[in-house]
Amino acid sequence: MISKTTIDQVYETARLEEVIGDFVQLKKAGSNFKGLSPFSDERTPSFMVSPVKQIWKDFSTGKGGNVVAFLMEHEHFTYPEAIKYLAKKYNIEIEETEQTNAQKEAQDKRESLYLVSEYANTYFQNILHNTDKGKAIGLSYFKERGFTSETIKKFDLGYSLDDWSAFTDEAIKQGYQLEFLEETGLTIVKENKQFDRFKGRVMFPIQSMSGRVLGFGGRILTNDKKAAKYLNSPESEIYHKSKVLYGIYHAKQSIAKEDNCYLVEGYTDVIQFYQTGIKNVVSSSGTALTSDQIRLINRLTKNITVLFDGDAAGMRASLRGIDLILEQGMNVKVCTFPEGEDPDSFAKSNTLEELTTYLEENAKDFIQFKASVLYQSAKGDPIKKAETIRDIVTSISKIPDRIKTEVYIQECARIMDISEDVLFTTLAQLQNKEVNEASKQNVAAKKAFDVIKPEQSIKKVDVQYELERKIIEILLLYGDRTEEFEDSILKENEKGDLVEETVIQEAKVFEKIYLDLQEDEMEFLNPKFKSIYYEVINGLNQDPNFKIENLINTIDPVLSQEITSIMMEDEKYSLADWQRNNIFPKDKTISLSQLVSQTILHLRSFLITKKINSLLQQTDSDLTVQNRSIIEDVMDYKKLDNILSRRLGKPL
Ligand code: CTP
Ligand code: MN
Repeated sequence: MISKTTIDQVYETARLEEVIGDFVQLKKAGSNFKGLSPFSDERTPSFMVSPVKQIWKDFSTGKGGNVVAFLMEHEHFTYPEAIKYLAKKYNIEIEETEQTNAQKEAQDKRESLYLVSEYANTYFQNILHNTDKGKAIGLSYFKERGFTSETIKKFDLGYSLDDWSAFTDEAIKQGYQLEFLEETGLTIVKENKQFDRFKGRVMFPIQSMSGRVLGFGGRILTNDKKAAKYLNSPESEIYHKSKVLYGIYHAKQSIAKEDNCYLVEGYTDVIQFYQTGIKNVVSSSGTALTSDQIRLINRLTKNITVLFDGDAAGMRASLRGIDLILEQGMNVKVCTFPEGEDPDSFAKSNTLEELTTYLEENAKDFIQFKASVLYQSAKGDPIKKAETIRDIVTSISKIPDRIKTEVYIQECARIMDISEDVLFTTLAQLQNKEVNEASKQNVAAKKAFDVIKPEQSIKKVDVQYELERKIIEILLLYGDRTEEFEDSILKENEKGDLVEETVIQEAKVFEKIYLDLQEDEMEFLNPKFKSIYYEVINGLNQDPNFKIENLINTIDPVLSQEITSIMMEDEKYSLADWQRNNIFPKDKTISLSQLVSQTILHLRSFLITKKINSLLQQTDSDLTVQNRSIIEDVMDYKKLDNILSRRLGKPL
């Protein structure tokens, strides 16, 4: 682990505008810098960097955060990778905290596996480019496939000599340990003899998202039908094939920028696409797509286009795998190639323009595609047709977005020439089945499904989200200001009714918020807001010099991103003046105390209504004692709600 001292030093030294300046051309704009968003294609700059606050915000995509968040977004670094990058840029020595022996050993071992792989990568490239055999066999093979020198270098392609142990011998001579050569699978050890796994093959190194070599694919050069066309590295502590996508390192920028990812089957498909000019392409390397692989893409875009080889043999099986992509809420398109062609051959024999046009014209929405393919094959066969309907509706049921679900049902009804009702009924059956299965495993899950009707919960969460966000915004921008609050306290009079009494109190904004929320035992529903809330309240409470800017650097990057996006919101209004007029008053402090009180009142009123509804759901028609006490509670809450509504000026 990197020590806290190093992390602090990195934050103290790094200048956000310098770091971002390496990737984005920035121009001074008042006290800020402005530039074209590196996350989208835009012509008018909406990317803002504040050197004072040391935060950035991209208004075209809504992303934002501190210096580390920028590197994580732009370079897709992990947190430690970002810190290391900055330490290197600013010549800061990295201090690691003490590890236990076991931790150290595990870390050392992984590190050794990385080193061996890195060495092999250099070795195979060296053989390809600088030896006679490499040039005559390996390089000429790649050239024949149409790869340019630039492409071959870009993908670090290499060649492994057709000798039993040329690589292993050299590696050991260079001081690499057999143990690690074996563990990475580069060397096979049998009865005390050592062999090169990839003997006589051209080499495709497989890199992680951040560019480290994890393993290899090696292609045979002969047409030997008995030997496998490709050999791949076995699973190891650094190579988990279900978590890796070939090409992701080179593709990540352009996947994010194009907001789409092409998914192909093979190594050569990726390379040929890239060379032709379509860089947002990755491959699952011949294995069925896994959820982990989809998650890698999901970090970069919500859109996947799956490209199928022309032979269509494995297509029906692959169609099922695609449900996994839908489950993650992503949009899937599919595109097939003409008979006998795969993405590699098609890209090779077409220009970028032709390829782009082909993809544009032939990529079909997955659900529509599936519906039409299955429908064609089931025509005239009622039993098959019924099966087909279930199949397609199963895919639709994976989509988390309810609006999309509905649109697709309508669409499929049209394509398959069947009534929407039938499809909706099938969908309901499938969903019920899922709920029942879930509830068998989990009683709590059943409860949740029983009590809350989906439509209601969606609406409620949204209002609450807005109110919670507003409270956080006030806290971040004005938390430490002192204001006079006109407050009415609720009291019970002699008759036992609730009445209001107005008082004026001076308080810090954060104290007012804290006390009000605590009084009602209100908790934030949104986990991010909840964490930010406690961080800020504690910070302000404990340290009079507490600065939000410092908090941004020390807390979880996910939270700091949320904070910066809230705090930079007002900068947005300097980007487009017309927006300014009706959204916020120019001087937000005019009615700060009112703003605080109103927001909290709104939230209280909202929560009370929610409470009343949930109480009402517990009652049934007979007036049991228990029922009556619930109804009394409801009446009390109603009174309180009326008072709050009056104060908010809402109609009763
Ligand atoms: N694959 C594999 N082992 C095999 C065959 C295929 O691991 N024996 C994987 C490889 O990652 C390959 C992908 O499946 O890239 C797709 O297979 P295929 O379409 O047969 O290969 P291509 O990529 O088209 O290879 P080439 O064009 O070199 O024949
Ligand atoms: Mn091929």
